[in-house]
Amino acid sequence: MTGTTVDHRTLEAWLAAQAGRTRLRLIACGSVDDGKSTLIGRLLYESRGIFEDQLATLAADSVTMGTRGGDLDLALLTDGLAAEREQGITIDVAYRYFSTATRNYILADAPGHEQYTRNMVTGASTADVAVVLVDARKGVLTQTRRHTYLVSLLGIRRAVLAVNKMDLVDHSRAVFDRIEGEYQEFCARVGLPDVTGIPIAAATGANVVSRSALMPWYTGPALLDLLDAIPVPDDPAAKPLRLAVQQIHRPHQDFRGIAGVVASGVLRPGDAVSVLPSRRRSRVARILVGDRRVEVAPAGLSVTVTLADDIDVARGDVLVAPEHEPGVADQLQATLIWMHEHAMMPGRSYVMKLATQTALATVTRLKYTIDVNTHAHIASRKLEMNELGVCDLDVNRPLVFDPYAVNRDLGGFILIDRLTNDTVGAGLVQFALRRSQNLPWQAFDVSGSSRARLKGQRPCVVWLTGLSGAGKSTIANIVETRLHQLGHHTYILDGDNVRHGLNRDLGFTDADRVENIRRVAEVARLMADAGLIVLVSFISPYRADRLMARELLPEGQFIEVFVDAPLPVAEARDPKGLYRKARRGELKNFTGVDAPYEAPEAPDLHIDTSAVAAEQAADRVLDALRSAGVISSR
Ligand code: ADX
Repeated sequence: MTGTTVDHRTLEAWLAAQAGRTRLRLIACGSVDDGKSTLIGRLLYESRGIFEDQLATLAADSVTMGTRGGDLDLALLTDGLAAEREQGITIDVAYRYFSTATRNYILADAPGHEQYTRNMVTGASTADVAVVLVDARKGVLTQTRRHTYLVSLLGIRRAVLAVNKMDLVDHSRAVFDRIEGEYQEFCARVGLPDVTGIPIAAATGANVVSRSALMPWYTGPALLDLLDAIPVPDDPAAKPLRLAVQQIHRPHQDFRGIAGVVASGVLRPGDAVSVLPSRRRSRVARILVGDRRVEVAPAGLSVTVTLADDIDVARGDVLVAPEHEPGVADQLQATLIWMHEHAMMPGRSYVMKLATQTALATVTRLKYTIDVNTHAHIASRKLEMNELGVCDLDVNRPLVFDPYAVNRDLGGFILIDRLTNDTVGAGLVQFALRRSQNLPWQAFDVSGSSRARLKGQRPCVVWLTGLSGAGKSTIANIVETRLHQLGHHTYILDGDNVRHGLNRDLGFTDADRVENIRRVAEVARLMADAGLIVLVSFISPYRADRLMARELLPEGQFIEVFVDAPLPVAEARDPKGLYRKARRGELKNFTGVDAPYEAPEAPDLHIDTSAVAAEQAADRVLDALRSAGVISSR
């Protein structure tokens, strides 16, 4: 959750509104035409006249989660996954507020169109109860099962099955019983233990606010009474303390305030806290809400805390109860829900946001994807839009986490595309993989630079990228010959050759190319560490993967050369006859023909081989090596 300092007047409004009132968060799920809007409209209509309460609820949320310093934050009406909101991304979920005599409701209305996964994840990640609508005439549909599965995955344990349009099936008990039975059976299988069925007719209002005489066989409560009777979810204040640090305030030398939202637990002055991941300990000195000191801060409140000791604390750290520490790991198993038309590829790195922590994460292994209809596990190389799967993640720094099932705030994360900044996936941490803890790094006395010094050079990776037939290997060959003559130690990693050995198992699908480049980048790094000048000649069609290669090497040891020939020129050369084959349809996924090539946007060197001969191109690479200090400028 995000949070900033708050205006204490809003806080008081919030506290007053909370006195004696409970709050329940709902998500409404339904397929097209099953009457969801009608039901929501009816709920809002029947509870009209409680505008004050709606405002209070909104005010409360503005205090705890708003981004407007406690003023009413209407953006909360399109509230979402916390980190997503931080990203400033709006999602197609509408939030409705209504109240009964005893309870405030926030209802997430997630439209069921093709982007439904994204919306469902957003709405369900903060909901306590799912209201699942089905049309009595149609019964449980594939869409109903998909929604229910997602809702269960996102940690909701309670559902209300509203069998709607009962008036159109003569208020038949047999119809209701059959649908409810089938749904209960399904829910038991997906781990949704608590389901109550109710027959309604949203259009007439039957069994929505009061019991309908038309269905005397139904002896349960009306929908609103049913909702009112659902026990409040576990009080987050009863869980161990978690406060993800949002910001450090240092208005002057003597004050250092740690700002964040109390995600769970209760904070009081004097409490011992542990700062993760460093595990440094201190005690809470003061707690401020806005500029007012408070003696107790329960879960949900945005606070600024000062500590008794001057220990290091930074954004992304998490203050926790020392006796209930969360996990800290850089290798995690997680469930991943993909939301973007560009598929998730193992080996590619994404920005990961978990609570207030930001890191780079790579899926090292996609264990399987899950068929949401049958729950079958399917072996797969990538995760497409709306698919979900279980994977191993490698994170570039230790993250503080709880399993999602234990704490949604510290167990849910999002993945962001590094180049476009789009949110592409949502994840739920399952547990830490212990692998990394048993793999210390061995330090040796001879370093990469001392190996290179003995060779009279600085190590470097020259990364040649471009279409097949652009001239990468030809240029690499001339550059290596010249370097060799100058007495330098070199090696060429060439796409065709490496694919005969190390990468023999890889083809030319997008997922295989990502893995191809990942392995070659790792090998190039090892060779540079051995002190060599490495010439890498691969099409390497994706920007993200070339960026990954660059980041494996120390600053200044990676030179990206765009060997650029317009497609018609490369195709006319066709040195291996592959373009012809591809045009005849005998070769699939051929770069430039039916597979993409993402040209570098800012290469270190750009050579147009339709205008420059190979010898001159090689000269330019050597010049670049000289000016980078890799070889001496004799
Ligand atoms: S990359 O895209 O994964 O970087 P890489 O450079 O290893 O490709 O391999 C490209 C070489 O494989 C080409 O020079 C060509 O000789 C051969 N090849 C065979 N099939 C294809 C294909 N479908 N697309 C591109 N190159 C192919």
